[in-house]
Amino acid sequence: MKKLLALSMVAVMAATSMIGCGKTEKNANGTVKEGKLIMATNAEFPPYEFRDGDKIVGIDAEIAEAIASKLGLTLQIEDMAFDSIITAVSGGKVDIGVAGMTVTKERLKNVNFSDSYATGIQAIIVKEGSDITTVDDLFAEGTNHKIGVQTGTTGDIYCSGDAEDAGCGTVEKYNKGADAVLALTTGKIDCVVIDKQPAIEFVKANEGLVILDTEYAIEDYAICIAKNNDVLTKKVNDALKELKDEGKLQEIIDKYIKAE
Ligand code: ARG
Repeated sequence: MKKLLALSMVAVMAATSMIGCGKTEKNANGTVKEGKLIMATNAEFPPYEFRDGDKIVGIDAEIAEAIASKLGLTLQIEDMAFDSIITAVSGGKVDIGVAGMTVTKERLKNVNFSDSYATGIQAIIVKEGSDITTVDDLFAEGTNHKIGVQTGTTGDIYCSGDAEDAGCGTVEKYNKGADAVLALTTGKIDCVVIDKQPAIEFVKANEGLVILDTEYAIEDYAICIAKNNDVLTKKVNDALKELKDEGKLQEIIDKYIKAE
Protein backbone atom coordinates (compact mmCIF):
# COMPACT_ATOMS: atom_id res chain seq x y z
CA MET A 1 0.00 0.00 0.00
CA LYS A 2 2.73 2.39 1.06
CA LYS A 3 4.86 1.42 -1.90
CA LEU A 4 1.99 1.91 -4.30
CA LEU A 5 1.49 5.42 -2.98
CA ALA A 6 5.18 6.20 -3.31
CA LEU A 7 5.23 4.84 -6.84
CA SER A 8 2.23 6.86 -7.93
CA MET A 9 3.82 9.96 -6.43
CA VAL A 10 6.89 9.41 -8.55
CA ALA A 11 4.64 9.13 -11.57
CA VAL A 12 2.91 12.41 -10.71
CA MET A 13 6.23 14.15 -10.19
CA ALA A 14 7.56 12.85 -13.47
CA ALA A 15 4.45 14.03 -15.30
CA THR A 16 4.65 17.47 -13.69
CA SER A 17 8.28 17.95 -14.56
CA MET A 18 7.63 16.83 -18.12
CA ILE A 19 4.93 19.44 -18.55
CA GLY A 20 7.14 22.01 -16.87
CA CYS A 21 9.89 21.38 -19.37
CA GLY A 22 10.57 24.24 -21.73
CA LYS A 23 7.09 25.73 -21.82
CA THR A 24 5.35 28.23 -19.60
CA GLU A 25 2.16 26.17 -19.54
CA LYS A 26 1.67 24.56 -16.16
CA ASN A 27 -1.10 22.11 -17.09
CA ALA A 28 -3.40 21.09 -19.88
CA ASN A 29 -5.28 24.40 -19.79
CA GLY A 30 -2.11 26.41 -19.77
CA THR A 31 -3.09 27.99 -16.46
CA VAL A 32 -0.89 28.68 -13.45
CA LYS A 33 -3.00 26.71 -10.95
CA GLU A 34 -4.93 23.52 -11.63
CA GLY A 35 -8.67 24.16 -11.89
CA LYS A 36 -8.35 27.95 -11.73
CA LEU A 37 -8.31 30.89 -14.08
CA ILE A 38 -6.58 33.73 -12.27
CA MET A 39 -7.36 37.17 -13.67
CA ALA A 40 -5.53 40.40 -12.92
CA THR A 41 -7.46 43.62 -13.13
CA ASN A 42 -7.60 47.15 -11.75
CA ALA A 43 -11.10 47.59 -10.35
CA GLU A 44 -11.12 51.37 -10.77
CA PHE A 45 -12.62 51.41 -14.22
CA PRO A 46 -16.41 51.35 -14.32
CA PRO A 47 -18.32 49.86 -16.12
CA TYR A 48 -15.57 47.36 -17.05
CA GLU A 49 -14.43 46.64 -13.49
CA PHE A 50 -15.39 48.22 -10.22
CA ARG A 51 -16.25 47.25 -6.69
CA ASP A 52 -19.76 46.59 -5.52
CA GLY A 53 -19.27 46.09 -1.78
CA ASP A 54 -16.38 43.66 -1.59
CA LYS A 55 -17.20 42.07 -4.95
CA ILE A 56 -15.49 43.03 -8.21
CA VAL A 57 -18.12 43.35 -10.91
CA GLY A 58 -18.44 44.78 -14.42
CA ILE A 59 -18.16 43.80 -18.07
CA ASP A 60 -14.65 42.33 -17.79
CA ALA A 61 -15.45 40.38 -14.63
CA GLU A 62 -18.50 38.84 -16.29
CA ILE A 63 -16.71 38.04 -19.55
CA ALA A 64 -13.88 36.37 -17.60
CA GLU A 65 -16.42 34.44 -15.53
CA ALA A 66 -18.11 33.21 -18.71
CA ILE A 67 -14.76 32.19 -20.23
CA ALA A 68 -13.72 30.36 -17.05
CA SER A 69 -16.98 28.49 -16.99
CA LYS A 70 -16.55 27.41 -20.64
CA LEU A 71 -13.07 26.11 -19.76
CA GLY A 72 -14.37 24.33 -16.66
CA LEU A 73 -12.25 26.54 -14.40
CA THR A 74 -12.99 28.64 -11.33
CA LEU A 75 -12.31 32.35 -11.79
CA GLN A 76 -10.16 34.11 -9.20
CA ILE A 77 -9.77 37.90 -9.48
CA GLU A 78 -6.65 39.75 -8.31
CA ASP A 79 -7.04 43.53 -8.01
CA MET A 80 -3.83 45.52 -8.57
CA ALA A 81 -2.43 48.77 -9.97
CA PHE A 82 -3.11 49.01 -13.70
CA ASP A 83 0.59 49.28 -14.51
CA SER A 84 1.32 46.01 -12.63
CA ILE A 85 -1.00 43.85 -14.72
CA ILE A 86 1.33 43.10 -17.65
CA THR A 87 4.17 42.16 -15.29
CA ALA A 88 1.84 39.87 -13.32
CA VAL A 89 0.76 38.17 -16.55
CA SER A 90 4.20 37.87 -18.14
CA GLY A 91 5.76 36.77 -14.84
CA GLY A 92 3.29 33.90 -14.51
CA LYS A 93 1.64 35.19 -11.31
CA VAL A 94 -1.75 35.25 -13.01
CA ASP A 95 -3.19 33.71 -16.17
CA ILE A 96 -4.89 36.63 -17.84
CA GLY A 97 -5.20 40.40 -17.59
CA VAL A 98 -8.70 41.72 -18.24
CA ALA A 99 -8.85 45.43 -17.60
CA GLY A 100 -10.30 47.28 -20.58
CA MET A 101 -6.77 46.90 -21.84
CA THR A 102 -5.90 48.37 -25.21
CA VAL A 103 -3.86 46.32 -27.65
CA THR A 104 -0.66 48.23 -28.46
CA LYS A 105 2.51 47.31 -30.35
CA GLU A 106 4.62 48.00 -27.27
CA ARG A 107 2.52 45.71 -25.06
CA LEU A 108 2.57 43.00 -27.72
CA LYS A 109 6.32 42.77 -27.18
CA ASN A 110 5.64 41.49 -23.65
CA VAL A 111 2.32 39.64 -23.80
CA ASN A 112 -0.09 37.91 -26.15
CA PHE A 113 -3.47 39.49 -26.74
CA SER A 114 -6.70 37.60 -27.40
CA ASP A 115 -9.05 38.66 -30.17
CA SER A 116 -10.66 41.99 -29.35
CA TYR A 117 -13.94 41.98 -27.41
CA ALA A 118 -14.74 45.71 -27.35
CA THR A 119 -13.82 49.11 -28.75
CA GLY A 120 -12.43 51.83 -26.52
CA ILE A 121 -12.24 55.56 -27.15
CA GLN A 122 -9.85 57.98 -25.48
CA ALA A 123 -12.01 60.88 -24.36
CA ILE A 124 -11.24 64.23 -22.77
CA ILE A 125 -13.05 65.44 -19.64
CA VAL A 126 -12.98 69.17 -18.86
CA LYS A 127 -14.76 71.53 -16.49
CA GLU A 128 -17.83 73.24 -17.95
CA GLY A 129 -16.74 76.44 -19.69
CA SER A 130 -13.14 75.25 -20.20
CA ASP A 131 -11.01 76.88 -22.91
CA ILE A 132 -10.31 73.36 -24.16
CA THR A 133 -13.14 72.52 -26.55
CA THR A 134 -11.52 70.14 -29.04
CA VAL A 135 -8.64 67.65 -29.09
CA ASP A 136 -6.66 70.14 -31.18
CA ASP A 137 -6.94 72.81 -28.45
CA LEU A 138 -5.17 70.44 -26.12
CA PHE A 139 -2.19 69.78 -28.36
CA ALA A 140 -1.91 73.13 -30.14
CA GLU A 141 1.45 74.87 -30.20
CA GLY A 142 1.89 77.45 -27.48
CA THR A 143 -0.63 75.83 -25.11
CA ASN A 144 0.43 74.58 -21.71
CA HIS A 145 -2.29 72.56 -20.03
CA LYS A 146 -2.05 70.19 -17.12
CA ILE A 147 -3.44 66.86 -18.28
CA GLY A 148 -4.49 64.20 -15.76
CA VAL A 149 -4.23 60.50 -16.63
CA GLN A 150 -4.16 57.11 -14.92
CA THR A 151 -0.57 55.86 -14.72
CA GLY A 152 0.48 53.46 -17.46
CA THR A 153 -2.69 53.74 -19.51
CA THR A 154 -2.76 54.61 -23.19
CA GLY A 155 -4.07 58.05 -22.14
CA ASP A 156 -0.82 58.47 -20.21
CA ILE A 157 1.33 57.15 -23.06
CA TYR A 158 -0.31 59.29 -25.78
CA CYS A 159 -0.38 62.51 -23.75
CA SER A 160 3.19 62.08 -22.59
CA GLY A 161 4.18 61.97 -26.26
CA ASP A 162 1.73 64.44 -27.79
CA ALA A 163 1.84 67.07 -25.06
CA GLU A 164 4.76 66.69 -22.69
CA ASP A 165 7.43 65.59 -25.19
CA ALA A 166 6.03 68.06 -27.72
CA GLY A 167 6.41 70.85 -25.16
CA CYS A 168 2.76 71.94 -25.10
CA GLY A 169 1.63 70.65 -21.71
CA THR A 170 2.42 68.53 -18.66
CA VAL A 171 1.04 65.15 -17.69
CA GLU A 172 -0.06 64.49 -14.12
CA LYS A 173 -0.25 60.78 -13.33
CA TYR A 174 -2.71 59.30 -10.84
CA ASN A 175 -3.12 55.75 -9.50
CA LYS A 176 -6.84 55.85 -10.20
CA GLY A 177 -8.89 57.57 -12.87
CA ALA A 178 -11.20 58.79 -10.10
CA ASP A 179 -8.27 60.59 -8.43
CA ALA A 180 -7.49 62.40 -11.68
CA VAL A 181 -11.14 63.44 -11.93
CA LEU A 182 -11.07 64.69 -8.34
CA ALA A 183 -8.00 66.80 -9.17
CA LEU A 184 -9.93 68.25 -12.11
CA THR A 185 -12.92 69.20 -9.95
CA THR A 186 -10.62 70.95 -7.47
CA GLY A 187 -8.84 72.87 -10.25
CA LYS A 188 -5.44 71.23 -9.88
CA ILE A 189 -5.44 70.13 -13.52
CA ASP A 190 -7.17 71.32 -16.71
CA CYS A 191 -8.50 68.05 -18.12
CA VAL A 192 -8.45 64.27 -17.82
CA VAL A 193 -7.73 61.94 -20.73
CA ILE A 194 -9.35 58.58 -20.08
CA ASP A 195 -11.43 55.91 -21.80
CA LYS A 196 -14.90 57.09 -22.75
CA GLN A 197 -17.11 54.68 -20.77
CA PRO A 198 -15.35 55.33 -17.44
CA ALA A 199 -15.39 59.03 -18.39
CA ILE A 200 -19.19 58.88 -18.68
CA GLU A 201 -19.41 57.26 -15.23
CA PHE A 202 -17.05 59.79 -13.63
CA VAL A 203 -18.89 62.75 -15.16
CA LYS A 204 -22.20 61.35 -13.90
CA ALA A 205 -20.76 61.18 -10.38
CA ASN A 206 -19.34 64.73 -10.37
CA GLU A 207 -21.09 68.00 -11.11
CA GLY A 208 -19.73 70.62 -13.48
CA LEU A 209 -17.79 68.29 -15.79
CA VAL A 210 -18.29 67.57 -19.48
CA ILE A 211 -16.81 65.18 -22.03
CA LEU A 212 -15.60 66.83 -25.23
CA ASP A 213 -17.41 65.83 -28.39
CA THR A 214 -14.19 65.09 -30.24
CA GLU A 215 -12.45 61.73 -29.80
CA TYR A 216 -8.72 61.52 -29.21
CA ALA A 217 -8.14 57.87 -30.22
CA ILE A 218 -10.09 54.72 -31.02
CA GLU A 219 -8.72 51.45 -29.68
CA ASP A 220 -9.32 47.71 -29.35
CA TYR A 221 -9.72 46.09 -25.94
CA ALA A 222 -8.43 42.54 -25.52
CA ILE A 223 -7.36 40.05 -22.87
CA CYS A 224 -3.62 39.71 -22.27
CA ILE A 225 -2.00 36.33 -21.71
CA ALA A 226 1.65 35.35 -21.20
CA LYS A 227 3.70 35.44 -24.36
CA ASN A 228 4.11 31.99 -25.90
CA ASN A 229 1.22 30.58 -23.87
CA ASP A 230 -0.51 29.58 -27.08
CA VAL A 231 -2.56 26.87 -25.35
CA LEU A 232 -4.40 29.36 -23.15
CA THR A 233 -4.53 32.01 -25.88
CA LYS A 234 -6.36 29.59 -28.16
CA LYS A 235 -8.71 28.46 -25.41
CA VAL A 236 -9.57 32.06 -24.53
CA ASN A 237 -10.14 32.93 -28.20
CA ASP A 238 -12.35 29.89 -28.75
CA ALA A 239 -14.40 30.75 -25.66
CA LEU A 240 -14.66 34.40 -26.75
CA LYS A 241 -15.86 33.35 -30.19
CA GLU A 242 -18.53 31.15 -28.67
CA LEU A 243 -19.65 33.96 -26.40
CA LYS A 244 -19.87 36.28 -29.43
CA ASP A 245 -21.80 33.74 -31.51
CA GLU A 246 -24.22 33.02 -28.68
CA GLY A 247 -24.92 36.73 -28.21
CA LYS A 248 -23.73 36.40 -24.61
CA LEU A 249 -20.93 38.94 -25.03
CA GLN A 250 -23.32 41.61 -26.29
CA GLU A 251 -25.73 40.74 -23.49
CA ILE A 252 -23.03 41.39 -20.88
CA ILE A 253 -22.04 44.70 -22.52
CA ASP A 254 -25.69 45.82 -22.79
CA LYS A 255 -26.22 45.08 -19.11
CA TYR A 256 -23.63 47.72 -18.19
CA ILE A 257 -23.74 50.16 -21.12
CA LYS A 258 -27.18 51.48 -21.93
CA ALA A 259 -27.68 52.61 -25.52
CA GLU A 260 -27.20 56.38 -25.76
N1 ARG B 1 -7.60 51.27 -22.24
C1 ARG B 1 -6.58 51.90 -21.47
C2 ARG B 1 -5.29 51.12 -21.57
O1 ARG B 1 -5.27 49.99 -21.91
C3 ARG B 1 -6.98 52.08 -20.02
C4 ARG B 1 -7.34 50.84 -19.28
C5 ARG B 1 -7.46 51.07 -17.78
N2 ARG B 1 -8.06 49.96 -17.14
C6 ARG B 1 -8.29 49.84 -15.82
N3 ARG B 1 -8.87 48.78 -15.39
N4 ARG B 1 -7.90 50.79 -15.02
O2 ARG B 1 -4.24 51.61 -21.28
